[in-house]
Amino acid sequence: MSATTEHATMNIKLIVWRQAAADKPGQFETYEARDITPHHSFLEMLDVVNEDLIKAGKDPIAFDHDCREGICGMCSAVVNGVPHGGHERTTLCQLHMRKFKDGDAIYVEPWRARAFPILRDLIVDRGALDKLIQTAGYVSCHTGGVADGNAILVGKPEADYAMDAAECIGCGACVAACPNSAAMLFAGAKISQLAELPQGQVEAPQRVAAMVKAMAELGFGNCSNHYECEGACPKGIKVKFIARMNREFTKALFLEKIGAISTVRAASEG
Ligand code: SF4
Ligand code: FES
Repeated sequence: MSATTEHATMNIKLIVWRQAAADKPGQFETYEARDITPHHSFLEMLDVVNEDLIKAGKDPIAFDHDCREGICGMCSAVVNGVPHGGHERTTLCQLHMRKFKDGDAIYVEPWRARAFPILRDLIVDRGALDKLIQTAGYVSCHTGGVADGNAILVGKPEADYAMDAAECIGCGACVAACPNSAAMLFAGAKISQLAELPQGQVEAPQRVAAMVKAMAELGFGNCSNHYECEGACPKGIKVKFIARMNREFTKALFLEKIGAISTVRAASEG
């Protein structure tokens, strides 16, 4: 798509998934987004359409958003078949209309995954990701006071690695992009981040076992190496973190086998 010039406005044909509630059937409806500038963000373009719908006495399009700065992970829609619209390291709220041109037709749909039921229009329930974190995606051992934080030295490469993994904002685009609706990029990032740091290493085997079990229970699928998750991730999370998760899981099984820990098989097999 060619970029739109600085001062031009454009009219866009929007084909949007409308669904009144989780238990109601949905369908695509077509709208005109008029006088959109290249500086409008995608969500601001939806705001313009919604103002017209409200003036006409119709229900506005429901969509998730909060920070609109690419930080919170709330915005979530599939644009022309790609979560967040498919621009490198760009959330939907940071996607600008200069990436489109006058007369374009744009399809907008919610995330589609078994673990993310549609609540209304473009809003899905991503609570399954929260439940996954509640399962074991944290450190519960005593890590000391403030002074101890600085006393435990962490090497620069390890800190950088953990920070790269911690960039995940929990948007769920990786799940929406995966043909198996796997949450392994999300879980792998959290498991890798904590397993890399001294404070997270104590519980690493139990954490990976519990989170692998929870992923299956919550309705997520398994990774089959399509790499679609990495392509859709607005924070550049790499599939190397899925490989790390698999290594951590194998290590946990080995530790259980030699009797060093006891909960792995129970946690991973139910
Ligand atoms: S790994 Fe990327 S796509 Fe998946 S939840 Fe985190 S930020 Fe979103
Ligand atoms: S609205 Fe917060 S990341 Fe898009």
